[in-house]
Amino acid sequence: MAEENDSKETAEGSDKKVGAVMVVGGGIGGMQASLDLADSGYKVYLVERGPSIGGVMAQLDKTFPTNDCAMCTLAPRMVDCGSHFNIEKLAYSEVEEVEGAAGRFVVRVRRKARYIDEDKCTGCGECVENCLVRNLAYLEPALLPEIDLDVSMRGKVDEILDRYDGGQEVLVPILQDISEEFNWLPADVLVRISQAKRIPIEHIVRIATFYKSFSLVPRGKHIITVCLGTACHVKGAGRILDRFERELDIKVGETTPDMQFTLQGVRCIGCCGLSPVITIGDDLYGKLNAADAVALLDRYKD
Ligand code: FES
Repeated sequence: MAEENDSKETAEGSDKKVGAVMVVGGGIGGMQASLDLADSGYKVYLVERGPSIGGVMAQLDKTFPTNDCAMCTLAPRMVDCGSHFNIEKLAYSEVEEVEGAAGRFVVRVRRKARYIDEDKCTGCGECVENCLVRNLAYLEPALLPEIDLDVSMRGKVDEILDRYDGGQEVLVPILQDISEEFNWLPADVLVRISQAKRIPIEHIVRIATFYKSFSLVPRGKHIITVCLGTACHVKGAGRILDRFERELDIKVGETTPDMQFTLQGVRCIGCCGLSPVITIGDDLYGKLNAADAVALLDRYKD
């Protein structure tokens, strides 16, 4: 829905583009309408009831019927709306009253309190993390339970920790090294990192669960990743995955009992020209059929 608040010139019939437009609703439709209008030279007020633009599409993984990535469609428009000099975003706001007629509307908008300084906020999320109203009190690393790491494991973990000076800023490289050493991230090791680097354990778990390359459960020596993105899907990635499941007698996400292979799926590895694509450890294989794919297992079996 869009309402115009044109200047006198427009109301009198001049075709010179002046005036302002209000777009109500910051979903994908509202954002696209705002961008089109702003590119045409209009000043646009984009009103959104929620705290951020994006709408329902931001909650979706894929769109129907093309199965395209929802965020890939949405994110560029969010960025454009955020930086367009002709668009003023009124998030966390609601239209209360509309008066006037076509060509001269007066709209009253209620802006809800955001409890932040919008000019200074960078969207880092630190305030949410440390909110004393919504969160339990911060748990000092020293109060975490005693951990039970055997001597050799503790030695390897401490050796990795000694490679990096600093706190949260070196967490990802530490987790990468731990993952490379043990092939997964044991819970006791995460507690050890928390105590040694004085990083809140909840922050470590959040990072460890965010990246697909980290695992909180033991994984096999060789990780088989079958790309199930659109390009690979249409070239038969599903058949390859089925064949691996039958050959290894495990389901996707599981590990063989001898801890040799872990099977996982991923959405696009970035080599769509080679589809269908799989990786085994650091090795990438493309343009495979199901029979060729399972034949590769012989190269990795002990
Ligand atoms: S869809 Fe498989 S590599 Fe892109």
